[in-house]
Amino acid sequence: MSNDDSKLSRRELLKAAGIAGVGLTVSGITEAHLIPENTESPQRPSKQPTMIGVKFEARDIVRIGIVGVGLRGTSVLKEFLATDKVAINAVCDVVKDKCVRAAQLVEKAGQKTPAVYADGDHDFERLSARDDLDFIYIATPWEWHVPQVLAALKNGKHTGTEVPAAYTLEDCWNIVNASEAARRHCLIMENCCYDDSETTVLNMVRAGLLGDLVHGECAYNHDLREILFENKDEGLWRRRHHTLRNSNLYPTHGLGPMAMYMDINRGDRFDHLVSMSSTHLGLESYRKDHVSAGDPKWKEIYKTGDYNTSIIKTAKGRTIMLQHNVSTPRPYDRINLIQGTKGIFRDYPPRIFIDGQQGGHNWTTLDKYKEQYESSLWKNQGELARKLGGHGGMDFLMCYRLVQCMREGLEPDIDVYDAAAWSVPGPLSQISVARGSVPVKFPDFTRGHWEQPRQASLS
Ligand SMILES: NC(=O)c1ccc[n+]([C@@H]2O[C@H](COP(=O)([O-])OP(=O)(O)OC[C@H]3O[C@@H](n4cnc5c(N)ncnc54)[C@H](O)[C@@H]3O)[C@@H](O)[C@H]2O)c1
Repeated sequence: MSNDDSKLSRRELLKAAGIAGVGLTVSGITEAHLIPENTESPQRPSKQPTMIGVKFEARDIVRIGIVGVGLRGTSVLKEFLATDKVAINAVCDVVKDKCVRAAQLVEKAGQKTPAVYADGDHDFERLSARDDLDFIYIATPWEWHVPQVLAALKNGKHTGTEVPAAYTLEDCWNIVNASEAARRHCLIMENCCYDDSETTVLNMVRAGLLGDLVHGECAYNHDLREILFENKDEGLWRRRHHTLRNSNLYPTHGLGPMAMYMDINRGDRFDHLVSMSSTHLGLESYRKDHVSAGDPKWKEIYKTGDYNTSIIKTAKGRTIMLQHNVSTPRPYDRINLIQGTKGIFRDYPPRIFIDGQQGGHNWTTLDKYKEQYESSLWKNQGELARKLGGHGGMDFLMCYRLVQCMREGLEPDIDVYDAAAWSVPGPLSQISVARGSVPVKFPDFTRGHWEQPRQASLS
């Protein structure tokens, strides 16, 4: 049994699945497994109001600290440096050279030299305690996201973590409680919510072009085999997760935009999921072809199925197919399919069908809808975003929009309830797969506020 599995005792698995007390057969699924009771959502501690609807305090300059300036942190640093009215006051990484490189980028952009924190795994705590930061952006390996979020919040800073925010049920609750207690926002920096297709389709959904939504499909299907086996960057930590968990390791790139289409936590919510993993052959096959005999990687035993497929049912009865595959050869695909009573959109490549359109039951392009429905973010900032280029421009727009919300004193587009709800399919799919694909209830991280409509963000 791996370290990670040992954290999920049989009792916890059953409790989280809402099926405590039910006798298990060795291989079978009983009737009770199929219809689990509600997963309990712990009561909100008293004097800890919700963060829903809480606006940032308006400010002229947004002062940012960055924890983790590896590939992603450096790339997002460049996006922040291209955004007006941002001051990068501190950077942190366990590798000092990476901090120095980041500090040089800040200086080159005409800002004063940021403070550097490179004194070991916990130096982020000193960065978090500074009194000249409004926001701490975290781009470290997954196991560090939650400790670093908690340190930021404890020190009164708003924070945004890379994806996924957390990968245990307990940690999803930990970030919710910490954000509520600190009265500071904890966002998930889900850049895919800001892509051109996703923001255009969001406007079309809101305008009713697709009718009432019934079903969505989304994914992170991305051949990462070469990256996973490198002796640097993500190769140093990400492959390890494939030895620990059989689940959807990276649910948010597809699910974030889907949640926005479906108003999750703003009128609907994820209710339960079932999940199934395929066998795992991809990393083994790649290792056979690319890793020399005697390399310590040959000692690793992978357990994440090449394909993990979950089906989520929402409280309003919609379904979402959510998939993860990073270990087989294939083109990139987040699917990004949304079906309503009047039409359907499907990405990769973008295409749409609206009921009654000319030309029979054939896809048409999104182009003719662009003029009317493209988001104002892309209309106004798209040229610069494309020039900067981070993931086609969506990375800049995510940073730009965050800074806009913080400067103008708006609510963030994405809050801690979204961070938890979009990340929690990680542990929930692990439970479902481990128990023979039983349904597993989602907690209600909003604790009763999910039906509350909110002012539309990102239009
Ligand atoms: N949103 C996206 O499109 C996207 C793309 C790539 C990566 N990511 C996410 O970004 C995060 C980082 O990924 P990456 O590709 O940059 O990996 P990376 O390995 O290149 O960078 C991680 C950095 O964190 C540093 N680090 C490790 N432990 C630390 C600690 N305790 N304190 C401070 N620094 C520490 C490492 O030295 C490294 O420089 C991950 O969560 C990943 O999932 C998101």
